[in-house]
Amino acid sequence: MIETGNDGRTWLLTGRTSSYALRLTDADELLHLHWGPRITPADVAELATIPLPGERGFESRLDGHEEYPVEGGPRFAEPALIVRSETVRGTEWTFGDAVVDGDELRLGFRDDLAGLSLVLHYRLREGHDVLERWTDLTHTGRDGTLEVLRADSATWSLPLRDSWRLSQLHGRWGAESVLVRSAVTYGGKTIGSRRGHTGHQHLPWVALDPEGSATEEHGEVFSCALAWSGSWRIATRQLPGGRVQITGGCGHDDTGLVLLGPGDTFTTPVFAGVWSAEGFGGASAAWHRWQLEHVVPRADQDRPVLYNSWEATGFDVGEAQQRALAERAAAIGAELFVVDDGWFGTRTSDRSGLGDWTPNPDRFPDGLAPLATAVHELGMRFGIWVEPEMVNPDSDLYRRHPEWVQHVPGRVPAQFRNQLVLNLAREDVASYVEDQVHRLLESAPIDYVKWDFNRCFTDPGWPGEPYPQRLWVDHVRALYGILDRLRAAHPEVAFEACSGGGGRVDLGILSRTDQVWTSDNTDPADRLAIQYGFSQLHPARVMAAWVTDSPNHQMNGRVSSLRFRFVSAMAGVLGVGGHLTRWSEEDLAEARRWIDLYKSVRPVVQRGRLYRIGQPDGPGVSAVQYVLGDETVVLAFLRSQRFGEEPAPLRLRGLDPGATYVCRDSGREHRGAVLAHHGLRTGLRGDLDAAVFRLRRARTD
Ligand code: GLA
Repeated sequence: MIETGNDGRTWLLTGRTSSYALRLTDADELLHLHWGPRITPADVAELATIPLPGERGFESRLDGHEEYPVEGGPRFAEPALIVRSETVRGTEWTFGDAVVDGDELRLGFRDDLAGLSLVLHYRLREGHDVLERWTDLTHTGRDGTLEVLRADSATWSLPLRDSWRLSQLHGRWGAESVLVRSAVTYGGKTIGSRRGHTGHQHLPWVALDPEGSATEEHGEVFSCALAWSGSWRIATRQLPGGRVQITGGCGHDDTGLVLLGPGDTFTTPVFAGVWSAEGFGGASAAWHRWQLEHVVPRADQDRPVLYNSWEATGFDVGEAQQRALAERAAAIGAELFVVDDGWFGTRTSDRSGLGDWTPNPDRFPDGLAPLATAVHELGMRFGIWVEPEMVNPDSDLYRRHPEWVQHVPGRVPAQFRNQLVLNLAREDVASYVEDQVHRLLESAPIDYVKWDFNRCFTDPGWPGEPYPQRLWVDHVRALYGILDRLRAAHPEVAFEACSGGGGRVDLGILSRTDQVWTSDNTDPADRLAIQYGFSQLHPARVMAAWVTDSPNHQMNGRVSSLRFRFVSAMAGVLGVGGHLTRWSEEDLAEARRWIDLYKSVRPVVQRGRLYRIGQPDGPGVSAVQYVLGDETVVLAFLRSQRFGEEPAPLRLRGLDPGATYVCRDSGREHRGAVLAHHGLRTGLRGDLDAAVFRLRRARTD
C-alpha cells in the first residue's frame, strides 16, 4: 500500500510488517524518513517535521539523510550517481512528478543543465516486506554524450543507532557463501566483483543489525540484495555523524559504466531491501517467500531429483556409459538425467571444443537424440551441460571468429581453464550464441540445460568500439536477453545457472533460471556451512545439492556415510553425482530409500518456511527445519561428539504449542509446546551423523 501525504511531498509504503517513508523538502531534496516497523501517515507527518541538522563546520546537512545521494553540491557521502559531460561535473535535481502505480511509486527529477532525467522506483508487493528499488537515468538533451561513471540502483539509509553489525557472505571457489559478521566502523566497506560475473567471493547481500543485537529469531535486521550477474558493488559506510548508508549497483568502480547519447536511458538492476523484527531467520523467510512468489520462475513446481555424471565420468563421456549410468539412476529414483561437460565438439578435456555445440561424433555417433530417448524411456527427463559464453582457442568457432572474444590487440590474453570469453555485447556474437543453443534444443528432446560460466573477465577489450567499457554491462544484458528468449521459445525446458559452482548466484540470474549449482564442493560436511550461508538469502527450492562418492575425491577426501551425504543434500534440490556403476547393490538400495524419503518431504523442503537451528560448525546438533501447513521436516546433523557430552535436544520452531504432532517415522506423538521448549531428542552420536524427522500436526487441543 502506498499513501501520499496531504502536501504531495511525503510517501509511505507499507508492507506485511514494515513501512518505508520518504519526503521531499521545499528545496527538492529527497530525504529518507523511515525504514522499519509499520507506521501511519500521522507518524510520517511527525517525522517530516524533524529538521535536518544545520550546517555545522565542515559537515554536510544532507549526508546520511538522502534517498539517492549524488555527486555534486554539499555532499561528501558515497555517491550513488556520478556523471560526466565535457562541461558538467555532478548533478543537481529538480522534482518533476510522483506517480503511484499500483504497488509501485515513481519519483521523477530533472537536471536541465546536465540534460538528464532521473526516475527512482520503489515497489513493495502486497503481502511482502521486500522493497524493490531501481533507477532510470535518461539523457534528455539534444546533443552531446554523457558518461555515467556510476549509477547505483538505490541507497539505503539506516536509522541512527549506537552501533551496527554487518553480516556478509564471502567465499571462494569450492567454499562459497560463508557467513561472517563484523562491527561497522567509521568509513566504508565495499564488497563486490570486478570479474564480469557475480563471483564466488561475495554474494550480493548484506544484513545489518543494530548493536549486534539480532539473533536467529529476534531483533531488527535490515538486509539488502542486488539482482545483477556481472561486476557489482555494495558499499556500507558509516558517516562522520554516525549514520550508516548502504549503496549498491552494477559496475565495480566509478571508472565507466555506460555512455548516454540523446534519448538513451540506462535502467539499473533492482537493489532490494527487507526489514524484519524477527531476526536473521525472519529476514531470510521474507527473502525466500518473495523469491518464490515474484522472482524464481515456476517456483510453485517442485524440482525433480537429478543425476549428473560430472564427478563420476568427468570429460570421459560416451553413449553406452551414460546409458549404463542412466539405468542405475532411474533404478534409484532419479527423475532427471544430466550429461555434463564432454559431449560436444572435440571436448575430451578442458583444452578444446568449447564453442562447438554439436555432439562429438565419436562419442554420440547419432547425436544426443538416442540417449535422450533412452533416458525418457527410463522415465526420466534429459538434460545437458553447456557453457555458451566461452570458447577454447582450439575450437572451430575460434578459428572462424577470433575477433569474437574479448581481447585487447597487442596484449597476450589471460587464459583461465584454457578458455576465452566471447564478447556477448556484440550483437552478432549474442545472436550466434542464442541460435546455437536454440538449435541444440531443437536437435534432441532436451528438458534441462545446465548453463555454466567457468572463468572471469580479464581482457575486456573490444577493438573498434569507441567505448569498450560497455561490454561489462552489455554482456550481462545480452545473457539475460538470450535466456529470456530461449525460455519463451522452449517453455518446457528448465535452466540451471552454474559458474564453477556458485560463481553466479544472484537475484538477477534467479529470475530466469530454475535453480543454481550451489558449489562444486560436494563434501557433505563442508556443504552444511555453504548451505547455511546460502539460505540467508535464497530458498532451498533453488539450491542444487548432490550426493557423490566417498571419499570425496573432488574436494577434501573426507569419508562419510551415505546417510550423512543424503541428509545433507536433502536440504535443497536433491541430486546424485556418484559413480553409480561402482556402487554396491546395498548402497543403491539405500540410495533408493533416501530418494523415496526425499520425494515424500520435497514440497515441504522446497516450499516450506525454513528455520535454521544452531550452526553447522558449532557444537552439538544443528538442523534445518521446514514447515508447510501441517507438515514439518527436520534435517538434523552432528559433526562430532565427545564421549559423555550428550547433544542437547533440538528445540523446534514454527509449531503450534497447543497441537499434537505425530512423527511419521517413529509413530511417536509429541506435544508442540514440548518440542518447542524441551526439544526433539535426535539420538545422533559419533562423527558426521544425521537424521530426518517428519512430523505432522495431528490435532489441536
Ligand atoms: C564447472 C561446474 C561443474 C562441471 C564442470 C564441467 O566447474 O561447476 O559442475 O559442470 O564445470 O567442466
